[in-house]
Amino acid sequence: MQTLPGFRDFPPDSCAARNYIFARWCEVARRYGFVEWEGPVLEPTELYKKKSGVEIVDQLFHFKDKGEREVAMRPELTPTLARVVAAHEREFKKPLKWFSIGQFFRYEKQQRGRLREHFQLNCDIIGEADLAGDVELVALCIDVLRAFGFSEKDFVIRISDREFWTDFFREKNVPPDRWDELLQVIDKSGREPRERTAEKLGDLADLVFATLKSGGKSKKLDKLVAGLRERGLADFVSIDVGIVRGLAYYTGIVFELFDRAGKFRAIAGGGRYDNLISLLSDGAVSLPALGFAMGDVVLGELINETSHAHEAMEKAIANDHEIDIYIVIAKEERRADALRHIQQLRDRGYRVDYPLTPTKVARQFQTAEELGARVALLFGDEWPQVKLKNMATAQQELVPQDRVLAHLQAQVSLSS
Ligand code: HAM
Repeated sequence: MQTLPGFRDFPPDSCAARNYIFARWCEVARRYGFVEWEGPVLEPTELYKKKSGVEIVDQLFHFKDKGEREVAMRPELTPTLARVVAAHEREFKKPLKWFSIGQFFRYEKQQRGRLREHFQLNCDIIGEADLAGDVELVALCIDVLRAFGFSEKDFVIRISDREFWTDFFREKNVPPDRWDELLQVIDKSGREPRERTAEKLGDLADLVFATLKSGGKSKKLDKLVAGLRERGLADFVSIDVGIVRGLAYYTGIVFELFDRAGKFRAIAGGGRYDNLISLLSDGAVSLPALGFAMGDVVLGELINETSHAHEAMEKAIANDHEIDIYIVIAKEERRADALRHIQQLRDRGYRVDYPLTPTKVARQFQTAEELGARVALLFGDEWPQVKLKNMATAQQELVPQDRVLAHLQAQVSLSS
């Protein structure tokens, strides 16, 4: 039996890599004053039909539950967030700065960097209309990547503004009911043959291509970059009006994060969605909102391919796996004494391991080394003394059994 296509098992090494990513995500979000929240993984299918856009609705894992409800595994978090905020809006002081780490499901065509389940960090600011919110959010996105050891040489955030295009359509007298569809065409233009895009754009094709080539001008985007420059972060971004994002709810600034070499799919994406909360609450609550999500799949690939980032991860994982103390049971008559000590050491927070069944002493020391133990405690002929071996220096000393705890407390600090 294998996993379903696009799903992953996480044996300990992969799980450690995943947790390494989660820990950095969480740490940087907190550094920016974001608080953690979570929503359900199963939602009414209707939630996504309202405004996520056709692409994501086509990719839903959806079914009828036993109560005949149309339900879907969440493909993203933003509609859930909008629903939660609309329902509980009065309970929270604005602006809300919320983050969440969770698993998402999309029935995508499998390709490099795109699976059928993935994890995302979502960071959203609710209740702030000022551009200061956009600057803060992009800065956070940059700093998350920097926490993995990446610099402006490794990645870039391409920033755009949907209003740039809606102004453009208005100027060219394009009826508003075509805007969404045209935005999707522009979004795909970088990944599709030019003729296909031209066909879909019709009369507008030449103008759109010319605008994409020249880059377009936007005061709002210039101001955003200036805000990042003040923080010394301008080298991490570039203006690119070709970014419009596939999701239908965005209303203003949008951005996507890519590796500099352009080898991978997007690592993160987000933007402003000032109308979504109002739309999902039938106008009861209206709040400006903006956010981004970063996936674990492409980020993991980029870490694996970038030697300094990979080394930092390996080091952190090795530290995390190591135990503090290995108990060597040299005489089986001492097993009960050893287990009493093991219990006491674990109660004090030490990471302790030992052989579950009788094992040769040399093999036990080998295991102690493999597990990264800093100290080995040998229970054997020396009883009622215990032999304490410092694994780094190989120095040994005899400690009376009732002094072992105090001795270790002075010598071995707890693993963090
Ligand atoms: P999104 O661009 O659809 O945005 O996804 C964000 C990130 O999730 C992508 O850049 C990518 O790294 C990862 N991702 C998406 N689909 C897959 C997949 N099939 N396999 C692997 N990774 C994937 C959103 O989801 C928005 N809700 C973000 C947002 C939050 N906007 C405002 N707030």
